[in-house]
Amino acid sequence: VFASVPEAPQDPILGLNELFREDPSPHKVNLGVGAYRTDENRPYVLGVVKRIEQEMAADTATVHEYLPIEGWPEFRRLSAHLVFGADAPALREERVVTLQSLSGTGSLRVVAEFLAHFYRPGTVCCIPQPTWGNHKNIFPRAGLPVREYRYYDDANRGLDYDGMVEDLEAAPTGSIVVLHACAHNPTGADPDMQQWQGVLEVVRRRRHFPLFDCAYQGFASGSFERDAAAIRLFAAATPPLEMAVTQSFAKNMGLYGERVGALHVVCAEAAVTRAVMSQLKQVARAMYSSPPGHGAAIVTRVLRDPALFAEWETEVQVMSGRIMRMRRELHQALQENGTPGNWGHVLTQIGMFSFTGLSASQCLYLRERYYIYMTSNGRISMAGLTSDKVRYLADAMKDAVLH
Ligand code: LMR
Repeated sequence: VFASVPEAPQDPILGLNELFREDPSPHKVNLGVGAYRTDENRPYVLGVVKRIEQEMAADTATVHEYLPIEGWPEFRRLSAHLVFGADAPALREERVVTLQSLSGTGSLRVVAEFLAHFYRPGTVCCIPQPTWGNHKNIFPRAGLPVREYRYYDDANRGLDYDGMVEDLEAAPTGSIVVLHACAHNPTGADPDMQQWQGVLEVVRRRRHFPLFDCAYQGFASGSFERDAAAIRLFAAATPPLEMAVTQSFAKNMGLYGERVGALHVVCAEAAVTRAVMSQLKQVARAMYSSPPGHGAAIVTRVLRDPALFAEWETEVQVMSGRIMRMRRELHQALQENGTPGNWGHVLTQIGMFSFTGLSASQCLYLRERYYIYMTSNGRISMAGLTSDKVRYLADAMKDAVLH
């Protein structure tokens, strides 16, 4: 019966991991997936996480019961504080529904299905061009067609703010608009606060529904507060704006495989939150029943304890600091080896990635000739680059550009 099942293409990001694993070359470099590595090219377990895990292992009271469908109450409350700020009006007015879910992707999938059922029928979901590849999978599978809005100006290697606002203005009234809260993936180009204000105005005027994908809080500026500024601007708007936020702890707490995250739906009034939560629970129950507990227990302990929280923030700064150093070193190496072109964007882009501007065929050349793995849109994960590979990468890039 499965004879006619066509083989699906490999995932453009996670599929690279599989190819990388199979590659026997001793020179191979994995700059595909956005996963932080130490300068010794090892996965990094945060010190604060390691300590908590040791305490949990020693605690004889630790059990492995099911979590409620909606997740741990304390995790939900504290993760909402992290995104919106503890004294946010929307939280004070009890207008936010928070569901613990499976990191960013799971939260997106739940909200997509919820919106497909309960938001305006026939609505489209506007996503930036370019965006994280999985957005194009998640929304259509939940029944929401996607349409792209201009976001990035290839020629200037920066945000195409005018194009973005024009396209959001022209999108059908009441569209869902996916926005990257900070450290836009893959471009590393974010609106400044004045531009966010402009986006807010067009979203409000056109009665769109903003959906913030928040996967890198702390990684853009090193400050959790600053990286949530766009979300907080929208959430504090008066009269209240209905919106949603999907939050991941994969990158900022290094808990990639634990699938820790939350979906926050901001409602216009507290009266509707009970019904909204009941429907989100229905979606989650049918999809995966209840969320995993281990990672959420770690996150909760960090968020509840000011000393652990401060330690976490310092560790995030260490990670983002190493990424910034890699940017400087790569930029310098590209200058020194005389790679043709202007590479200033390697320095100025924000977050885990650099959107190099290399073409798909140049990316393939780098993989085949130099065993350097990166996504075919020219994105390299700066978080996967290490000091000993900077020169190798810069020389390979030079060859690819001249080839
Ligand atoms: C990435 O963009 O590399 C990460 O968000 C990992 C993923 O799931 O794609």
